[in-house]
Amino acid sequence: TTSQIGLLGLGTMGAALALNIANKGFRIAVFNRTTQVTRDFAVQAGDLAARITPTEGLQDFVAALSRPRAIILMVPAGQAVDDQIAALTPLLDAGDLIIDAGNADFHDTNRRAAAAGDVRFMGIGVSGGEDGARHGPSIMAGGDRADWDRVAPILTAIAASHDGVPCATWMGPAGAGHFVKAVHNGIEYADMQMIAEVYGILRDGMGLDNAAIAKTFRTWNDGALASYLIEISGHVAAATDTLTGQPLLDIITDAAGQKGTGRWTAIEAQHLGAPVPVIEAAVAARNLSSRRDERAQGQAAFGAAPQAMGDALTATDLERALIAGKIICYAQGFAMIDAAARAFDWPLPLPDIAKVWRAGCIIRSVMLDDMATALARSDANLMLSAPFTDLLRDTHVTLRKVVAQAALHGLPVPALSSALAYFDTMRTHRGTANLLQGQRDFFGRHGFERLDRDGTDFHGPWAD
Ligand code: 6PG
Repeated sequence: TTSQIGLLGLGTMGAALALNIANKGFRIAVFNRTTQVTRDFAVQAGDLAARITPTEGLQDFVAALSRPRAIILMVPAGQAVDDQIAALTPLLDAGDLIIDAGNADFHDTNRRAAAAGDVRFMGIGVSGGEDGARHGPSIMAGGDRADWDRVAPILTAIAASHDGVPCATWMGPAGAGHFVKAVHNGIEYADMQMIAEVYGILRDGMGLDNAAIAKTFRTWNDGALASYLIEISGHVAAATDTLTGQPLLDIITDAAGQKGTGRWTAIEAQHLGAPVPVIEAAVAARNLSSRRDERAQGQAAFGAAPQAMGDALTATDLERALIAGKIICYAQGFAMIDAAARAFDWPLPLPDIAKVWRAGCIIRSVMLDDMATALARSDANLMLSAPFTDLLRDTHVTLRKVVAQAALHGLPVPALSSALAYFDTMRTHRGTANLLQGQRDFFGRHGFERLDRDGTDFHGPWAD
């Protein structure tokens, strides 16, 4: 009997996804460029091997699949995807489908979808790391609706679910799924950064040890901030290094890596004119984190900041600041998706996106359930939707207090302060861009509008 689906690329994520598919009762054929990886995988599959067909050549792989074929690619984003499409296409028939499940740049997915002819192409964002891929990821699909409908029975079966609703949704054509995944990752960067900023205040401002920090995260995980990222932050803070017996967090180098998805989101947001400054701050913070030597020079030149802040803040203050920052960050992310829906003419259903993020993915949280409800009820920006308006009314003062104390004590909180600046900007009717317009008109006669008259091309008295 032939396999119902194929998977190419048995790295960590590919192997986990293949086991998940087999575990859900589907027959799957697998292929990896390095044959030994395929053989090891078949051994590791244990009982599931009965539904797995390991293949050692591309032709055998393609021949093992029932038609029309569906093949999931799980290879590194970029050239490897184009190479595999080029290698597979001559072996496939009209109506066969290639599904890129890696972290592709959605522009690449748009290009590949446009270039697809008789052999169909989809791009799906898969979130949740190895554990998610193995036991239930969140899946953000992009491509032709009819192609999605064909593979949806498998992809919804292997996805995570929340209250029985599968976290696998069609977001729109072409690159729509990978676009939503990129915004997910941008928000992931921002969530992580805001938690790290608060960790800095707990550690350097309040002088808490790792055990106390872990306990604080555990407490928060029972409240409004309950989320995977808060939960794992608690685990990381509590961990002991196996090499030295020291608290693990104390010996991890403070320089963050990134593969680029957060940066893509910040760049795309600028193109769309729908800024996501909290995500931008998080991307910038990762970049600066890697300049350790420069930071050492900075500390030598200016001295260390007077970080200790005594009892100026409580843990509850930090929790409330995080709640406010999180709402503001997600409001930016959803507003960006909304702008993309209009710019690209894609469905990108906001409530369904919040729903697909409720389980399986890295940013899953209790708050996303309320966001799904709020986004379904109203088109308004999340900051202006119940219950988030009230929640922000309750917490923005504390966000301000935390940012102010951090500033006074030289503790960098770029994402939290960016969230605060966004909040203040968006609640200030009379801004200061009147001066920008005056400056532009002065040096370039760009013209300005007036508050007291209709028309668009007024000028100041600086003709000569
Ligand atoms: C996910 C993660 C996953 C991966 C990121 C990490 O949703 O499961 O986002 O896709 O861990 O690519 O990104 P960085 O290496 O850029 O931190």
